[in-house]
Amino acid sequence: MATLNFKGKPLVWNHHLSVPYHQLVPRKDKSLTDKVRLDDNLIIHGDNLHALKSLLPRYAGKVDLVFIDPPYNTGNENWSYNDNVNSPIMKEWLSSNPVNAEDMLRHDKWLCMMWPRLVLLRELLSEQGSLWMTLDDNEVHRARIMLDEIFGESGHVVQIAWQKRTSRENRATFSPSFDHVLVYSKADAKYWGAFRKLLSVSGEILSNPDSDPRGPWISVPFSAQGYRENQVYKITTPSGKVLDPPKGRCWAATEPEFKRLLREQKIYFPKDGDGRPRVKQFERKGLVPDTLWLAEDVGDTESSKKELLSIFAAEADLGLHAPKPTALIERIIHIASDEDSMILDSFAGSGTTAHAVLKANAKDEGHRRFILVEGEGYADRITAERIRRAIKGYAWSGTQREELLREKLNWTKLQKADALLAKVEAIKAKEGFAESPDLAAPGKEAQRFDRIAVRIEDGELRVEGEKKISERVEGLGGEFTFCTLGDPIDPERLLSGESLPDYANLGAWLFHTATGGTLDARRVKPAEFYLGEAESHHVWLIYKPDLGFLKSPEAALTLSFAKQLRERRKGKKHLVFAAAKFLSNKQLLEHGVEFAPLPFALYREA
Ligand SMILES: C[S@@+](CC[C@H](N)C(=O)[O-])C[C@H]1O[C@@H](n2cnc3c(N)ncnc32)[C@H](O)[C@@H]1O
Repeated sequence: MATLNFKGKPLVWNHHLSVPYHQLVPRKDKSLTDKVRLDDNLIIHGDNLHALKSLLPRYAGKVDLVFIDPPYNTGNENWSYNDNVNSPIMKEWLSSNPVNAEDMLRHDKWLCMMWPRLVLLRELLSEQGSLWMTLDDNEVHRARIMLDEIFGESGHVVQIAWQKRTSRENRATFSPSFDHVLVYSKADAKYWGAFRKLLSVSGEILSNPDSDPRGPWISVPFSAQGYRENQVYKITTPSGKVLDPPKGRCWAATEPEFKRLLREQKIYFPKDGDGRPRVKQFERKGLVPDTLWLAEDVGDTESSKKELLSIFAAEADLGLHAPKPTALIERIIHIASDEDSMILDSFAGSGTTAHAVLKANAKDEGHRRFILVEGEGYADRITAERIRRAIKGYAWSGTQREELLREKLNWTKLQKADALLAKVEAIKAKEGFAESPDLAAPGKEAQRFDRIAVRIEDGELRVEGEKKISERVEGLGGEFTFCTLGDPIDPERLLSGESLPDYANLGAWLFHTATGGTLDARRVKPAEFYLGEAESHHVWLIYKPDLGFLKSPEAALTLSFAKQLRERRKGKKHLVFAAAKFLSNKQLLEHGVEFAPLPFALYREA
């Protein structure tokens, strides 16, 4: 297999192994949940290299979908190479941050930054998991060879073109219209095909949350823009709530038609019968996703900026680089996840991935979970805040536009400019905005818009009616725990008693290191000193983060503790981590117990 050589490769090849495990420290004040938990949706503030390593003890092999949108390395993104690789050349790199276009080693630095993160992301993926990464022309060719090496060539699933802009960049040699989305699977891509879902004809995924015998379906809201008198009436949900149409809208059909749809069981009330009515649409067959994803189906960078601005309204300059549209990530989620999948984005930015997960769950009542990692100071102010607003709902104000005329301009049309202007004037008059007094009177009272905008864009004349609206976007529901990275779990510092991790963090690390498995937080019983069950052992940890305890005989594995283990947890051998043992190897053998000393044993003898 062809491989890629770059400066620093021998040093980062196995760098992920020497990255320390940091403790994940939940922050109640920044979380949106009653009880902070590390098996909740997580938003982690910190460098993703450390965060990914810290996730391994709990999530190795558990993540079904990774979506990442890393720095594209365009030369003007201000990203920095900050990894603590133990080598003089790479330490010197830290002094030439941020990485810019003049940096002759910028591609080497980018590859060195990405390599250990991709290795860890692969370790976190489940057997049916896949990694999706957006890039542009700057690094996509190098990234593919690097990913071939990390995932194996057989892991390469596809390279998708996503239309990121529909307007033209006239100063460029070529105006870039699309970004790449690289897709790699942990399993052989041939087999991964069995896990991916089909798209419905309209580009959305079909699902069957209520086990409808007619088969999978999609649903659309049972409401329409505007006001029609016979489409305004009360609808009672199965939970007993009486609903009017949403503000500024009417129901999608008259009451008799609604009743007919209800009888035919084509009306779906989400949120266990408490949500607004939706109409089911059945289709017989889905479509295989293709490799050209158009802006009109999944959004572009313009629409994603507007999306973000609508959430943060007046808090204008968010200083964020190119957020992705939620529709793009929603499509990825639909293709590559199930209703209870775990989804990870370690370059979270504005948190689009978590927003898309919440939307996908709201659509099909799924229980997907997300983990986001963001290194910048805005992890709370923007990343988490967006998700707080998406969960709880937010006020939205903006301009609604309706296209009234679009005409390509050419020489013939310009020669007949008067006719074109008359057309525009007639539209304005019809909408009650006539400039000429002769045309003004009729229709004035029925103004649908606040303004008629006329402009020329991309060689086209466009006339649009604009209306300022403000409404509340309903919350999608959900919760998350916000974490920061605490002290590394460092045996040297354990020895001195300088840093004593909490039970859960030390337990997860020891369990993963000793067994290669992940700790199920729900099974941990600190009061019993029980960590959980690995393939061949029950694992115990006699520990409290308290020097007094660790120096006392209570911290030792005793004969009476060993004797009880077979009774307390049956069927497997027992592995016990403790600071000391007060029984012989023969006695350990007799009771099917293996002992693993904690570094505190040395401390105790010192
Ligand atoms: C291109 S943006 C992602 C945008 C995101 N997809 C969205 O829709 O908003 C890349 C993000 O990765 C973050 N990032 C870059 N390097 C990182 C690192 N080493 N650890 C954590 N976050 C990092 C940046 O701060 C930035 O917010």
